[in-house]
Amino acid sequence: MIFLILIFAIFTALISASLVIPRAGGPSFVPIPPSCNVTNPLPCTANTTRISGYMPSSNFTSNHQLYSFYLLASQLNSTAQFQGCLQQCNGFGTPGTCKAALLAYDVPTPADFFGTQGGVLEIACFMYSKFLSRGDFVKAPNGTYVDERAGNIRC
Ligand SMILES: *[C@@H]1O[C@H](CO)[C@@H](O)[C@H](O)[C@H]1NC(C)=O
Ligand SMILES: *[C@@H]1O[C@H](CO)[C@@H](O)[C@H](O)[C@H]1NC(C)=O
Ligand SMILES: *[C@@H]1O[C@H](CO)[C@@H](O)[C@H](O)[C@H]1NC(C)=O
Ligand SMILES: *[C@@H]1O[C@H](CO)[C@@H](O)[C@H](O)[C@H]1NC(C)=O
Ligand SMILES: *[C@@H]1O[C@H](CO)[C@@H](O)[C@H](O)[C@H]1NC(C)=O
Repeated sequence: MIFLILIFAIFTALISASLVIPRAGGPSFVPIPPSCNVTNPLPCTANTTRISGYMPSSNFTSNHQLYSFYLLASQLNSTAQFQGCLQQCNGFGTPGTCKAALLAYDVPTPADFFGTQGGVLEIACFMYSKFLSRGDFVKAPNGTYVDERAGNIRC
């Protein structure tokens, strides 16, 4: 399993939005073609596109997470952040490799994150090799995984 992490914690508000987009080593941004559908796998009512307080199970993550990155802040709005996360999933490896992407706020950085203890709440984008389904989500620790969006990319 590939597990790569990029950190942008040092970026400040002085740095332009384009620089906040992960670059070096990150998957390229490949727009989702109109022939593909992005479906919402979140465990929520039909018309809700965001939830808080749920995260993919550790089993799902350890088996299917391809890539992740964390941002302390972004100058892009949340819609643009989610679109970028989906587009990078679409651009990961050969077409169809990355099937699902998830963006959430107040996600704790993992232990050992760049030599830190982790636990800092940041914006996170996760990319997975398997479609997410409602049953893959478990309760997240209180106050984490806020305003979460996810999409399965079906082409
Ligand atoms: C979802 O939105 C549509 C269109 O606004 C509405 O007709 C439908 O009743 C809504 N469904 C739910 C479960 O709220
Ligand atoms: C863990 O994930 C694997 C791969 O998706 C699945 O086959 C297995 O049933 C899961 N185990 C549990 C305990 O959910
Ligand atoms: C979010 O940002 C995108 C790209 O910059 C822009 O097109 C869109 O209008 C913005 N949406 C909102 C709700 O501000
Ligand atoms: C999480 O929040 C719920 C509802 O506010 C509360 O009942 C529960 O005790 C909290 N759990 C923790 C571990 O803080
Ligand atoms: C996308 O959704 C449309 C409308 O439901 C459907 O006709 C089409 O077959 C879907 N495409 C894929 C690739 O799932």
